[in-house]
Amino acid sequence: MLRTSILVVILSCLCASVTSTVTYDNKAIIINGQRRILISGSIHYPRSTPEMWPDLIQKAKDGGLDVIQTYVFWNGHEPSPEKYNFEGRYDLVRFLKVVQQAGLYVHLRIGPYVCAEWNFGGFPVWLKYVPGIEFRTDNGPFKAAMQKFTEKIVDMMKSENMFEPQGGPIIMSQIENEYGSIEQQTGAPGKAYTKWFVNMAVSLDTNVPWIMCKQDDAPDPLINTCNDFYCLKHSPNKPYKPKMLTELWTSWFTEFGGAVPYRPVEDLAFAVARFIQTNGSFINYYMYHGGTNFGRDSGLFVTTSYDYDAPLDEYGLQREPKWGHLRLLHKAIKQCEPALVSSYPTVWSLGKNAEAHEYRSNSGACAAFLANYDTTSSANVIYFNKQYDLLPWSISILPDCKNEIFNTAKVIHGAHMKMIPVGGDFPWQSYNEEVPTADDSGTVPMVGLYEQINVTRDSTDYLWYLTNLNITSDEEFLKDGKDPVLTIASAGHALQVFINGQPSGVAYGRLSNPSLTFTGNVKLRAGTNTISLLSSCVGLPNVNLHYERRNAGVLGPITLSGLNEGTRDLTKQTWSYKAGLKGESLNLHTPDRSPSIDFLEGSFVAQKQPLSWYKTTFDTPQEPGPYALDMTGMGKGEIWINGESIGRHWPGYIARGHNCGACNYAGYYNQNKCATSCGEPSQKWYHIPQSWLKPTGNQLTIFEEWGEDTIHCRSFIVIQIFIDKA
Ligand code: GAL
Repeated sequence: MLRTSILVVILSCLCASVTSTVTYDNKAIIINGQRRILISGSIHYPRSTPEMWPDLIQKAKDGGLDVIQTYVFWNGHEPSPEKYNFEGRYDLVRFLKVVQQAGLYVHLRIGPYVCAEWNFGGFPVWLKYVPGIEFRTDNGPFKAAMQKFTEKIVDMMKSENMFEPQGGPIIMSQIENEYGSIEQQTGAPGKAYTKWFVNMAVSLDTNVPWIMCKQDDAPDPLINTCNDFYCLKHSPNKPYKPKMLTELWTSWFTEFGGAVPYRPVEDLAFAVARFIQTNGSFINYYMYHGGTNFGRDSGLFVTTSYDYDAPLDEYGLQREPKWGHLRLLHKAIKQCEPALVSSYPTVWSLGKNAEAHEYRSNSGACAAFLANYDTTSSANVIYFNKQYDLLPWSISILPDCKNEIFNTAKVIHGAHMKMIPVGGDFPWQSYNEEVPTADDSGTVPMVGLYEQINVTRDSTDYLWYLTNLNITSDEEFLKDGKDPVLTIASAGHALQVFINGQPSGVAYGRLSNPSLTFTGNVKLRAGTNTISLLSSCVGLPNVNLHYERRNAGVLGPITLSGLNEGTRDLTKQTWSYKAGLKGESLNLHTPDRSPSIDFLEGSFVAQKQPLSWYKTTFDTPQEPGPYALDMTGMGKGEIWINGESIGRHWPGYIARGHNCGACNYAGYYNQNKCATSCGEPSQKWYHIPQSWLKPTGNQLTIFEEWGEDTIHCRSFIVIQIFIDKA
């Protein structure tokens, strides 16, 4: 009896170790003994709602994906030290289980630095204020915090049996993110940090491979992987590692003030085929579903939409022809898999700018990729006595080396999407945010100008800088009417100036230079004048060496010229501070709080008035969603539905850009090549997740900073998709 049970135990252990392993060699990731060509796509769980996840994952599966890749968002999971949040959009395990139930794998990018156009690159803001801390280098407090969070996530994954050898979906993890160039700039401490985090990660015994992206010298056993639009030059740093592309950019993100980038699918498919034909065995679309930066989640100047021209659009609908064309590409690649995983490509020229890449295995499998790199002419090539007409900048796939079943530039799907207005003319109410002054109770006087994030700790976008200004009655300008000029230098990101409570101008920066200078004539009177400056942040930086040291807010100098004395420097005088808005402290966006507050109604509703809170209720439209709010005509601010923030709106920021003309898919792509919306708002549609709506009596709250226009966002919009089947 005893003997039998021992035998059973030993056998089951053997089975487990044989059936469940993830390793790699120079060809591919190996899952349970099988080399795999893996097609992956990024879907970031907090950029959609849990109710959307099953549909998104199913559409990813239907589109031919094997793997879902996501970062882990530390600032969402640990908003204050050791106060963890794994609920709602941050329910990481629930998300991974949805992926698992669909039968897909997971690539978990723990980071915990993530970049991702995410507020502060995913680091909690409190981390910056840990004494003695320096981010992403050989620094004790930073390493301790990084290790603690990484361990927390790995332990959680283990206890939920999430790693593949445990029967879970995770086949790979990532530590850090694109550290290569930062390491170079950091020097010796950077190198020491790399060594440390590699050892730390490996010691966590996840039993699945770790990768590092954009880190050419990634130490063993980590795999160095590539992120780019093509990754033509990438090669693994050891002959026993596979060639992997962990971020193939499906287009690019949109910044407020920028045009909306798109990437033609012909070129995206070409990039995939080109990587696979040169021994690549893993590609990940960044993003497969970009989604939405809800609330204040987005990084510096990044729009609320993170659509990314991804195969699944912001609302979770298949974007055609992208989704369908890539689906066919994935099918074709899958048919090549037996040859791809068991041989190396032989390459030869098929003429000027044309090449054949042929995979022929000992067992007789054969797959060929016929490529034409010419951007203007088709290539007529002969491959094994057969003629092929290759479109410019395209690759044909022959999974049996005989029949072309796919060409990257032959797109047979067509589609257009329509936004249809479905409602509007809501009964609005408004609440006027008062402009505070330095004498108000609750403001904090300090000498000089202070950095914004230091004061707010990013608990709000807003910080008031308040002071008084004395003007004597003998000032010449009071007589000649030549108003003095106020000049304010700010580290960013946007500024609104009020003199004696009156709106006196706005100024704002942009992603490439968030700082701003306000210069304007101001109306002053004899006696005491109040200056109230509302400085607002539009997300914290998420990229580049020591981005965490970048400042925000009014740091000066502030001067007033055109006085009898010439120019007066206001920089070093006493300024009073008030973090946040009154409406925020009153929780005006929360349905159960606002009824007690006096909102104006009917003809008293604010029109073209800065700092207005608007509120209305509406029933969910009869037409099926998804829904978006058309904010055309509004300026800048934030929007809430039933107390949930759907993000910052800024249709007042008009897209600069000259790249909105016709865009040829052929030729190397970059994020500035093809775009829409030049001369229009960078973002006018704002996604309302359906699960945040009730059938009736939904509360919509808008804080409008600029008061650009009368309430314009009258319409709910249904998005519908029409697919032209060719
Ligand atoms: C990459 C980075 C991603 C994202 C992307 C641009 O370099 O790893 O997190 O920021 O750029 O969208």
